[in-house]
Amino acid sequence: MALIEPRPIIIGNWKMNGTSESLGEIRLMAAMLDGVAIGCEVVVCPPATLIRTVHEMLSGSRIKTGGQDCHPEPQGAFTGDIAAEMLRDCGATHVILGHSERRHYHGETDALVCRKVTAAHRAGLTAVVCIGETEDERDAGQTVPVVARQLAGSIPDNVSAENTIIAYEPVWAIGSGRTPTTDEIKQVHQAIRDQLAERLDPQTTAAIRILYGGSMKPANAGAILAIPDVNGGLVGQASLKAKDFLGIIGLFAPN
Ligand code: PGA
Repeated sequence: MALIEPRPIIIGNWKMNGTSESLGEIRLMAAMLDGVAIGCEVVVCPPATLIRTVHEMLSGSRIKTGGQDCHPEPQGAFTGDIAAEMLRDCGATHVILGHSERRHYHGETDALVCRKVTAAHRAGLTAVVCIGETEDERDAGQTVPVVARQLAGSIPDNVSAENTIIAYEPVWAIGSGRTPTTDEIKQVHQAIRDQLAERLDPQTTAAIRILYGGSMKPANAGAILAIPDVNGGLVGQASLKAKDFLGIIGLFAPN
């Protein structure tokens, strides 16, 4: 059976940015994409307070909505936390998990991320699982082993191409304006694919999307998205403005 090329996906991560004033960008995004053929899937992950509104504003468009984190449990005494089921209830279809900012500022371990991925699947969400090395780890030549360890610990055994997306985000490239070279990205994405092959069947391995994230913007996205095994992007800063975000989405030929 021929292996199917995954459909690319661009996911916007608004992080802790956005109040109701920012909804104008969503309106603009929907208007700019109205009736326009696009060659990739698109997801916007606003802060939790805006998910329902953004979902409703985008209901007539092809843009989906996602969360930026969830709790492993479906409900309970966890003040301030949000269950995957609650994200789903607000209209989310995706959730970003294990982002390096969560790992760093909230001490999230691979084991906790793995429980959250299972929770996302339980709620019917696609988990966008983030992994990536720090600058020190890169300088020590540890990029591939670090990413491999995170990947091994952060995803459960029963993942599918529908319910799981991997995002490779070098920590030092996030918000810094710096990116790895094309060859470096290619090498890490290939290593991730090889590792997936050890746990998953060939169809699933080939179909799982592996995104690049870290200072992706319209000016560098074309070169990055052309790298083999890069199946889309996780975009922070450049997802906040409709014009920049659509500048990346527009790089895919409509199909
Ligand atoms: P950036 O963020 O595009 O602003 O570097 C990416 C991310 O953290 O997901």
